[in-house]
Amino acid sequence: MPETDNQKTYASADIVRYYEQINQLQPAEQLIFDRLSPSLPTMKVLDIGVGAGRTTQYLADRTAEYIGIDSSAEMIAACQTRFPDRSFQVCDARNMAEFASGYFDFVLFSFNGIDYVNHDDRLTILQEIHRVCKPGAIVCFSTHNLQSFEQTFKAQWSWNPIATYTNLVMLGILKVLNPGLTEAKLREMPWAIVKDESHNFRLNTYYIRPDDQIKQLVDWFENIQVYGLMGELELQSDRLANLDQWLYYCCTKKV
Ligand SMILES: C[S@@+](CC[C@H](N)C(=O)[O-])C[C@H]1O[C@@H](n2cnc3c(N)ncnc32)[C@H](O)[C@@H]1O
Repeated sequence: MPETDNQKTYASADIVRYYEQINQLQPAEQLIFDRLSPSLPTMKVLDIGVGAGRTTQYLADRTAEYIGIDSSAEMIAACQTRFPDRSFQVCDARNMAEFASGYFDFVLFSFNGIDYVNHDDRLTILQEIHRVCKPGAIVCFSTHNLQSFEQTFKAQWSWNPIATYTNLVMLGILKVLNPGLTEAKLREMPWAIVKDESHNFRLNTYYIRPDDQIKQLVDWFENIQVYGLMGELELQSDRLANLDQWLYYCCTKKV
């Protein structure tokens, strides 16, 4: 993956400004934080990929200890300006050696931040998260849903000519920016790194099927729950068919 594209994007002034302006929790995050609310006051929290601090205001005052980290020094500078009394560090989730093993009660990697590294590095991040967690600690992150990208990556016809036109234009752009990717190939892939429309096609983004995301977690984590964008809990009795662009996963470190 030309991963430096992602790092450059998250370091650029316009993108930092964008994240400085978003303050709201997403519905799934609101629900997850509400559920955790009784336990938060005793929790040591690591907020990975904290960006410009969107989630800081919802966690820092309510938890026993709060540390926000991000690989982008520019994002961390924005956090420090916004929350001068809070603790932030420039740190890449692939190597969190400065944090002791078994330290945190709750690790968050919100808004798909885990999707901006290559596949092997993603596994390294999950391993690092596992390492810094106490047994039983809660891990929560969101990640792009390949089932949703599959829908965008095929021609969709509708009675509304504007909707059809918009879809075909988007499909054309995606095909140009993702040469070699076909609908047939995509159907066979458990995960894929693609250029999508976010931040004007500047990012290379990892998308994964929900069942494959669960497979990535099961060796290290248990009690895995999957939430749709609106916070509805997805039942895992059947294949997860959700088509939201990204999904939330909450789990606990195996004891
Ligand atoms: C989509 S933004 C989300 C920012 C913030 N969590 C929010 O919700 O507003 C993703 C963030 O993850 C950070 N990030 C990406 N890869 C990272 C890594 N390997 N380690 C730490 N942070 C990373 C980026 O710099 C960026 O700030």
